[in-house]
Amino acid sequence: MSLRALLFHLLLVENPVIVIFKEMSRLLEQINKDTIPQHLAIIMDGNGRWAKAKGMFRSMGHENGTKAVREITEACVEINVPYLTLYAFSTENWNRPKIEVELLMRLLVSSLKKEIKLLDKHNIKLNAIGNLDALPSKAQKELRDVIEKTKNNTKMTLTLALSYGSREEITKTIQEISLKVKKGLISPENIDEKLINNHLYTQDLPDVDLLIRTSGEQRISNFLLWQLAYAELYFTDVLWPDYTKNHLFEAILNYQNRERRFGKTSEQL
Ligand code: FPP
Repeated sequence: MSLRALLFHLLLVENPVIVIFKEMSRLLEQINKDTIPQHLAIIMDGNGRWAKAKGMFRSMGHENGTKAVREITEACVEINVPYLTLYAFSTENWNRPKIEVELLMRLLVSSLKKEIKLLDKHNIKLNAIGNLDALPSKAQKELRDVIEKTKNNTKMTLTLALSYGSREEITKTIQEISLKVKKGLISPENIDEKLINNHLYTQDLPDVDLLIRTSGEQRISNFLLWQLAYAELYFTDVLWPDYTKNHLFEAILNYQNRERRFGKTSEQL
């Protein structure tokens, strides 16, 4: 091979950026635009292990996790996912070392400040679910601001689950409904799935179609227990900070190759 041919080969054929780009186009071409999950939920796991493997502080894992949040949010816009929900902080995460909780809350505030432009650019509406009153007042204020500023955006709803726990959500729902029964506003016979849905944090969101969890863990971890009733579950070993568009497209393709029967037989579909 001549030097010129070798250079051409290295630059254009084996250039990692071009290889990744080609793979992206190949995956994107295969995605069926008509069966995109309407609601994608993600348990973003593995930030700590990512940092540890690189000899870094855990906070660096979370910081790099925000880059993956940006990439995946943009990828969802690109393929027209209307609802994306990210598990950013669970009720159980309050039990982490104080310094890590503080760092995560600071990261939330700085990310919100920074990403408002991106949300607007892509016409994304921000939403938050969870016991938001438990968040530090700075985080509550920033969240309220960004939610207000993006409320008229229509392309995608990005929901951050913050101080969120599904059992807490269901407990709160039962309390609210019981109180209405006690006051005579609802009779017990009228309690149905729709009414329960309407009392959940997720009342404005459809059921989850696809749940992705990164980092090799295969658990639901108190996330959207009611809303995941018929979701397809997808687990990957990739750690969240390493999770890319291509990984997401692979997950979508895997989802599109599944038969969702919702309790029916194949023949009935
Ligand atoms: C789980 O990894 C991740 C979290 C508890 C936090 C998720 C937060 C981010 C991705 C960054 C901030 C996000 C926003 C929206 C600002 P882990 O720490 O449990 O990892 P490990 O299991 O490897 O320890």
